[in-house]
Amino acid sequence: MTNSGALSAEIRHIYLGEGHHAYGLHHLNQLQHALQSATRAEAQGLSPALVLAALLHDVGHMVHDLGHAPAEEGVDDRHEALGAAWAAERFPPAVSEPIRLHVAAKRYLCATEAGYQAALSKDSVLSLALQGGPMSPAEQRAFLALPYAQDALTLRRIDEKAKDPHAVTPTLDQFLTKCLAAVLGTQASAAQA
Ligand SMILES: [Fe+2]
Ligand SMILES: [Fe+2]
Repeated sequence: MTNSGALSAEIRHIYLGEGHHAYGLHHLNQLQHALQSATRAEAQGLSPALVLAALLHDVGHMVHDLGHAPAEEGVDDRHEALGAAWAAERFPPAVSEPIRLHVAAKRYLCATEAGYQAALSKDSVLSLALQGGPMSPAEQRAFLALPYAQDALTLRRIDEKAKDPHAVTPTLDQFLTKCLAAVLGTQASAAQA
């Protein structure tokens, strides 16, 4: 089996096994949220790496054993760090870093963009407090200096909108076929250069 084939099988196993659990307090599940995020990323013409990051940005929720709604129990599952660690073992930083920073991006936007925090969904408000609340000015400066901060902001804006229980999307297999070949191909040519 190729590297891409093994990864595809692993991601299918995670999302088809764990993806049916509810996404936060919404009437959609983790798999729907992942597919909607990737669909929006693709529609915006983003790179295959960022489309893949959108697809996998909440994988951290599915690779821990803290239950399926830890925020409701007052627990921050640190899913961005867990997900980024998982992704960094498999993909280049263009995929894993936006995943790592997508919660920081939310904290940044809450601090800097008028109306952003007020428009957050109920579960995002709940988790915001556990995640540290809006960033301080010093935290904002440090965040913006990070290499993938802009990609993380783009991802976070997509994330907040990808919560429609009725959205129609391509399938997981369709995204995996397109994105894995493109991202791992890029990685292979970069290694040869
Ligand atoms: Fe998330
Ligand atoms: Fe999300």
